[in-house]
Amino acid sequence: MESVPCLRVSQCHAQQFRTCLQSKGALDPSLCLLKDSDGTVLLPILPSCLSQLDLQSLRTMVASDGACEIVRSQSPLLSKKRGRTRGNKLEEILQELLESHGERWTEELRGDLPRSFQRHEDLFLFGDNCFSLPLWKKMGPQLWSAVAKGLGAKRLAKMSQISRDGFRSPVVTMLLGEDSWVKHVDNRIRYEFDITQCMFSAGNITEKLRVAGFDCRGETVVDLYAGIGYFTLPYLVHAGASHLHACEWNPDAVETLQKNLVANGVSDRCTVHQGDNRQLQLCDIADRVNLGLIPSSEDGWPVACRLLKRTTGGILHIHQNVTSVLPNTAAIPAINDATQRVSGKKADREVWQAWADDTANRIASLLKDITGTRWITNNQHIEHVKSYAPHVHHIVLDLECRPS
Ligand SMILES: C[S@@+](CC[C@H](N)C(=O)[O-])C[C@H]1O[C@@H](n2cnc3c(N)ncnc32)[C@H](O)[C@@H]1O
Repeated sequence: MESVPCLRVSQCHAQQFRTCLQSKGALDPSLCLLKDSDGTVLLPILPSCLSQLDLQSLRTMVASDGACEIVRSQSPLLSKKRGRTRGNKLEEILQELLESHGERWTEELRGDLPRSFQRHEDLFLFGDNCFSLPLWKKMGPQLWSAVAKGLGAKRLAKMSQISRDGFRSPVVTMLLGEDSWVKHVDNRIRYEFDITQCMFSAGNITEKLRVAGFDCRGETVVDLYAGIGYFTLPYLVHAGASHLHACEWNPDAVETLQKNLVANGVSDRCTVHQGDNRQLQLCDIADRVNLGLIPSSEDGWPVACRLLKRTTGGILHIHQNVTSVLPNTAAIPAINDATQRVSGKKADREVWQAWADDTANRIASLLKDITGTRWITNNQHIEHVKSYAPHVHHIVLDLECRPS
């Protein structure tokens, strides 16, 4: 079963967003909304409506700070089907298992069950906030067979954290089953990868859809941080790039990328450059450069500038996590919640704009240093991709760079 596209919203705005989605006919009536452990709510969206969904207009309809993002949920707990839910079935099976080991079911154990998880075909991937109580260990390998039975899974895995090895690899351990390769279909693109080796950035779906909507026919594109093809594939499959140079230094990701290029029938239009993109020998070839690395892609700015075509220039898509430091409103006693939200949102936008203006100036001066001629840079668009915390946002700046 494929994952379910959902709109992630804060609990206090869930009802308003639900009504908006309903009015647009985009809410999936066969699925329940799901409260996530972080206090947000996932509203299921009909996959057929996903590409037409305009997040900005939704936020405006809700008329608040209304943060929302599209995510994919693989949680089967969303199903509205009558009868015993998978959650209940899991609990029942685990209770039986515990009792057969002479142990009692407790609320603490219930609280240690997974609230949501990624599902890739028959493999369920848990986060590190479940099955952490020592009692589970006593059940031995029987535990994972029981969990799989309770959820209707064949393979189970657990993710600990994103490692600090420079490749942002997840630390994923298989709990049940040996084959860790999974398939994921997103916007008609097939991604296959080994979950113990590569990371799948489900949270970037809005940006992947935006890239898929670009018209890159006749263009040469460079993706400086290709991973397993998160943006490379939409550029080739949907945006129609004539040729794409994909840079990636993680050998596991390169191997996966090459498989995915073949699986999607676009390998003839892609050159993969394995290694550190800062050492890339190409220059003066690109109409567009994608710099999809967070928290910052700044290390890639000089190479991106070298890559742009000297005579016509091009567009840089620069990813960055931007943090806004808000004025201390605690000192203003009469301020209400709505006012704070509006001013918070305005302050965020001002910080993004300031970062974009500064980036435009710095790129213009890098381009001048590299080429010896003057360039004009123009902030075409700032796209909000994801919020990590109330005022930490992953944004993308579309920066047009032209020689003057
Ligand atoms: C987080 S992934 C981003 C993938 C994709 N752009 C996304 O946002 O979903 C970043 C990728 O860039 C690769 N990477 C980071 N620094 C690099 C460098 N200097 N040269 C080549 N690849 C690099 C990492 O190995 C990783 O696969």
